[in-house]
Amino acid sequence: MSTTIHTVTLLPGAESFGADEHTSILRAAEAAGLDLPSSCRNGTCRTCICRLRAGQVAYLVEWPGLSFDEKREGYILPCVAVPRSDLEVEAPLARRVRPAEP
Ligand code: FES
Repeated sequence: MSTTIHTVTLLPGAESFGADEHTSILRAAEAAGLDLPSSCRNGTCRTCICRLRAGQVAYLVEWPGLSFDEKREGYILPCVAVPRSDLEVEAPLARRVRPAEP
């Protein structure tokens, strides 16, 4: 199993954290002390929807709740998306709930 770590940067605050290719962006953010909007955490409610500015993701579920047009426009569901490269994600509602680890 690969343990490649990618850097995820949340915009506009520019908080960043490392995320492996097997952990959802939402869980990786939480592990880094950042809170993002979420509810179902399984790709159906769309509470977590945000837009990818740069990078590539893959999904842990076969049918994440996004339309073809939304995917094409760069929207992602961080609760079921995993990074495949460094990412820049628009997440204006992200907030730090724990200090960053040194
Ligand atoms: S938290 Fe429900 S789709 Fe992500």
